Amino acid sequence: MTEEFKAFEAAGWSARAATYDALTARATAFAIPALLEHVGPGDRVLDVGCGPGALTAAAAERGAQVTGVDLAAGMVAEARRRHPDLTFIEADAERLPFADDAFDVALGAFLVNHTPDAPAAIAELKRVARRVVLAAWGPEDEVAFLTLPAQAAHGLGGVPDGPDSELYAHPDRLAALLGEATVTTVRETLHVDSLDALWDGIRGGTVRIAARLEHATDEHRARLTTLAEPYRVATGYELPVAILIACCPRRVA
Ligand SMILES: C[S@@+](CC[C@H](N)C(=O)[O-])C[C@H]1O[C@@H](n2cnc3c(N)ncnc32)[C@H](O)[C@@H]1O
Repeated sequence: MTEEFKAFEAAGWSARAATYDALTARATAFAIPALLEHVGPGDRVLDVGCGPGALTAAAAERGAQVTGVDLAAGMVAEARRRHPDLTFIEADAERLPFADDAFDVALGAFLVNHTPDAPAAIAELKRVARRVVLAAWGPEDEVAFLTLPAQAAHGLGGVPDGPDSELYAHPDRLAALLGEATVTTVRETLHVDSLDALWDGIRGGTVRIAARLEHATDEHRARLTTLAEPYRVATGYELPVAILIACCPRRVA
C-alpha cells in the first residue's frame, strides 16, 4: 500500500507542477511568513516536500543556505526551472539522503498529510536538522477551499489507500507527532472568483481530491454550489484557511 500510494503521489504532483500556483500555492503561501520566523541568515535549511520551491526561495532570500527536496520528479524539475541558482533534489521524506545534523532547520510545509509513515518522516527531519518546523492544514471545517470540493466528491473512488489527511489537522496531534512542540494557528481567507475557478484549481492543485473529481458528474458539481453558498460574496467566494505551524525546539548540538 505504501509504495503504491507514494507512486500515485509522485505521479500526481509531477503532473500538477505547472498548475499548482493557480489555487493551492496561493493558500500554502499564507504559511511562509510564519515558517520563516524560524529561519535566520546563514542557517542551513532543508525544505522537505518543497513543491515548486516558493518557500525554499523565500528562505534563500532571507539569507539561508537552502536545499529543497520532493518526492515528485516533476515538482523538482519545476523548482529547478524557477530557481536555477538553488539546489533541489528528488527524495522521499522517509529516507532522506543526508548525513545526521547536516542542516540547522528542516521545514515541512503541507508534508505530513502526504507521507504514509509520518513518524518515520519526522524522525528523518529530526535526524538531519536540529530544528523542525511544520505547516499543516487545520481541521477540515476550517479549510473550506479543500473541504468543499472533497465533500462534493464524497463517495467517489480512484484513490489508493493512503494517510488520513485529518490525522495531524489538530494542534495536539501535530504537537504529539513532533514531540515537544509549540503550535500556533495562522488564519487567512482565500478568495476565488467563481466555483469553476475553485473546481479547476483543485483539479490542478491537489492529487487525492482531484482523482475523485475525475469521476464527478453534474450532480457532484451542483453539490459544490450548494455547499459553497455560505461563503458567497459579491465578487466570488471568500474561503477560510486555517494553517497550523508547529516548531520543535532547538536540539542542543
Ligand atoms: C501540498 S504540496 C506542498 C508543496 C509546498 N511545500 C508548499 O507549501 O506549497 C505537497 C508536496 O509534498 C510532496 N510529497 C509527497 N509525499 C512526499 C514524500 N514522501 N517525500 C517528499 N515529498 C513528498 C509532493 O510531491 C508535493 O510537492
